[in-house]
Amino acid sequence: MTDTPTQKLRSRAWFDNPENIDMTALYLERYLNFGLSLEELQSGKPIIGIAQSGSDLSPCNRHHLVLAERVREGVREMGGIVLEFPVHPIQETGKRPTAGLDRNLSYLGLVEVLYGYPLDGVVLTIGCDKTTPAMLMAAATVNIPAIALSVGPMLNGWHKGERTGSGTIVWKARQMLAAGEIDDAEFIRLVASSAPSTGYCNTMGTATTMNSLAEALGMSLPGSAAIPAPYRDRQEVAYLTGKRIVEMVNEDLKPSEILTKDAFHNAIKVNSAIGGSTNAPIHLAAIARHIGVDLPVQDWESEGHKVPLLVNLQPAGEYLGEDYYRAGGVPAVVNQLIEQGLIHEDALTVNGKTMGENCRGVAIEDEKVIRPFAQPLVEEAGFIVLSGNLFDAAIMKTSVISPEFRERYLSNPDDLNAFEGPAVVFDGPEDYHHRIDDPATGITPETLLFMRGAGPIGYPGAAEVVNMRPPAYLITEGVHSLPCIGDGRQSGTSGSPSILNASPEAAAMGGLALIQTGDRVRIDLNTGSANILISEEELAERRKTLAAAGGYKYPASQTPWQEIQRSVVGQMSTGAILEGAEKYQRIAQT
Ligand code: FES
Ligand code: MG
Repeated sequence: MTDTPTQKLRSRAWFDNPENIDMTALYLERYLNFGLSLEELQSGKPIIGIAQSGSDLSPCNRHHLVLAERVREGVREMGGIVLEFPVHPIQETGKRPTAGLDRNLSYLGLVEVLYGYPLDGVVLTIGCDKTTPAMLMAAATVNIPAIALSVGPMLNGWHKGERTGSGTIVWKARQMLAAGEIDDAEFIRLVASSAPSTGYCNTMGTATTMNSLAEALGMSLPGSAAIPAPYRDRQEVAYLTGKRIVEMVNEDLKPSEILTKDAFHNAIKVNSAIGGSTNAPIHLAAIARHIGVDLPVQDWESEGHKVPLLVNLQPAGEYLGEDYYRAGGVPAVVNQLIEQGLIHEDALTVNGKTMGENCRGVAIEDEKVIRPFAQPLVEEAGFIVLSGNLFDAAIMKTSVISPEFRERYLSNPDDLNAFEGPAVVFDGPEDYHHRIDDPATGITPETLLFMRGAGPIGYPGAAEVVNMRPPAYLITEGVHSLPCIGDGRQSGTSGSPSILNASPEAAAMGGLALIQTGDRVRIDLNTGSANILISEEELAERRKTLAAAGGYKYPASQTPWQEIQRSVVGQMSTGAILEGAEKYQRIAQT
């Protein structure tokens, strides 16, 4: 048993409120009907929610159904009572039209549960891409003690003696299929080989990124993010997480004490060092806004760009989740950054200790997988933030630009950081799939590919479609990537040199709505600019014409939620949150 709570538990308002005996009786009777006792509910034990994201519909998180048993044992051992409940499922690979639509819906549902039910603290069962930010966003809004438990990555995938990583193998297999090297059956076999067990994507995709960043933010137990789902250590940490949340309730340790600006800056640094997903800026911005921390998208460049890539995981590198865990996971990475003075060491974490106390001195166990700071895989591995007449803000991972790629677009051979070429523009992924391999589309090795109509409004939730493979006829000639620019997102498992998350999107009449196929475009990484090379007058004329025609057209909503979200969602540079929700902060304190 741990210390008794220092403050009155909020669950007492439901279960032990002599001033409102009528309602107390009503609240009590139904929670007794499955076998809890009056003594348990009225004895002042903390009531701990397990926000269960696992289900048959969400295979990445399904193992949480098993882990929850160990969480329960941990909670009970420390004198708490568990009420487990479902959260709206989000499966990245299963949800149409895109799982991006569901992050804010899941957030909304969880806020209602955490606020409206007798919960003193909550275990957030994070995992698949959007499940992590959705739950952290809700914990930020409600601000009751919360701890995140990752479900962990799948075991490494293998095919013919080589590691096959989630998502990354899909991009590779698509190219092989387009080039006629494999048939449909082999394509499916190759892709399936990357998923050998329960757990989430074993590459450094958005899931491993966001679970690592949850730890870097201080919201999960140190060392827990990287443990593969089927390992016994994963069960152990579930148990420890259950124990710890009861202590957190007793200590009244809330997300607002952990999710500080320093914590977000730590997470940005870690994201560069792990080679994290380009979805991370969207999700961290969303969490920051809901807890009330100012985190402009420019912080990704100022805090993160110069940090080197240390983690050698696919898609940027060679290895996968099991290797990452054995090499030391997040604490080993953080320690490398601590030694350079790059981490705010006094940032508080869920175990009640600081980031420095948790991570300082944690050694790398395998330097092939996690490189020492002095021998990085890539220097300056973070994002840069671009702006111009195409958009106010978009991000680019410059570390994946190959020398061969740079040379193809050089406008000036002395300047490897400026790209210029003609645009080919696609309106949404269907248009792209329809026309990409048609020679009449006019794509050459100098083309810059544009994807628009793929943002939070245009393709509700924002689709992961900006990384576009070149036409098959160019791939057979050895052109494996073209620059891709768009108002959608890109899968974290793709290593393409794309310019992403452009805000405002075409559907909100950003500059992307005005570009036409054939326009010349210049991307200058020296100045951080991205412009269509036409006059301001011409641009204004195009804007007037498009506005007069009713604005940029996008497909009609197919569900009520699509319509509701489209009417209130913000742009990706500011987190793509439900704009009206931001004013509800830390609501459980009132
Ligand atoms: Fe769920 Fe990648 S699809 S983690
Ligand atoms: Mg800072």
